[in-house]
Amino acid sequence: MRKKQTSGYNGKVNLITLTSPKSPVVEAYHSLRTNILFSGLDKPIRSILVTSPLPSGGKTTTVSNLGVTISRTGARVIIVDGDLRRPAIHRVFGLDNKMGLTNLLVEENLTVDDALQETEMENLYILTSGPLPPNPSELIVSAAFNKLIEKVKEQCDFLLVDSSPVLAVTDPALLSRYVDGTILVLNFGDIPREVAQKAKEQLDNVKANIIGAVLNRIPSNGTGYYYYYYYHYYGEHGEKERRKKRRHRSPESTSE
Ligand SMILES: Nc1ncnc2c1ncn2[C@@H]1O[C@H](COP(=O)(O)OP(=O)(O)OP(=O)(O)O)[C@@H](O)[C@H]1O
Ligand SMILES: [Mg+2]
Repeated sequence: MRKKQTSGYNGKVNLITLTSPKSPVVEAYHSLRTNILFSGLDKPIRSILVTSPLPSGGKTTTVSNLGVTISRTGARVIIVDGDLRRPAIHRVFGLDNKMGLTNLLVEENLTVDDALQETEMENLYILTSGPLPPNPSELIVSAAFNKLIEKVKEQCDFLLVDSSPVLAVTDPALLSRYVDGTILVLNFGDIPREVAQKAKEQLDNVKANIIGAVLNRIPSNGTGYYYYYYYHYYGEHGEKERRKKRRHRSPESTSE
């Protein structure tokens, strides 16, 4: 296990659950956590992929805060940076990205433990992307990748995977086969209905289990706060029913 070398966070991505645990927004992530855990009544959800239709939807922010929140239940959580195009998880947690997922794929003598990094949270560990490969999609479909993800799952109670935008590249659709559920993060106001629909279709095509969508960055009456909504998809034969779960306030600033 690699010990945490650096301290502090760069503040670019909102890690509000760690920096301001008493903030009302933390309650939004609790709600998201609860919804995820209740999504898997038949088969427990133990691994989640987070993606969005387009870049900058808030994938990394959602994965990171969710990781902190789930780890607070006492579960051992590993976040894997599966965004092999624009990895950012290491920056959120103030870690280096010298060794990560891609190293484990190509260097056979390495174990997961060699690349796994600690965080400030006792139960939260990070596997960064590692050096960027020229062929992310090929790596993701490889047998070695499958084997590696299984090994990572053995080392945690809950696996969270960050990813690239699903309409930009095939990586997230390919990654979805390795997890129990997929969450779509939608940036309020930025994502037309057809774009969200298209993203869902891409995931449906590979039979991803879309367990819900997070509607991110909903401004509220110019107060500088954002609202979060969580929509739960369920029903058979692709029938979708949306239920508004809860509404919370979320500070815009990352510098609290
Ligand atoms: N709810 C929010 N409130 C305030 N700022 C947010 C919120 N969600 C995301 N941001 C900010 O928006 C920016 C993009 O977010 P983030 O990096 O999480 O998106 P992403 O989908 O991972 O982007 P990429 O496609 O580049 O990987 C970051 O600077 C982040 O701090
Ligand atoms: Mg990201």
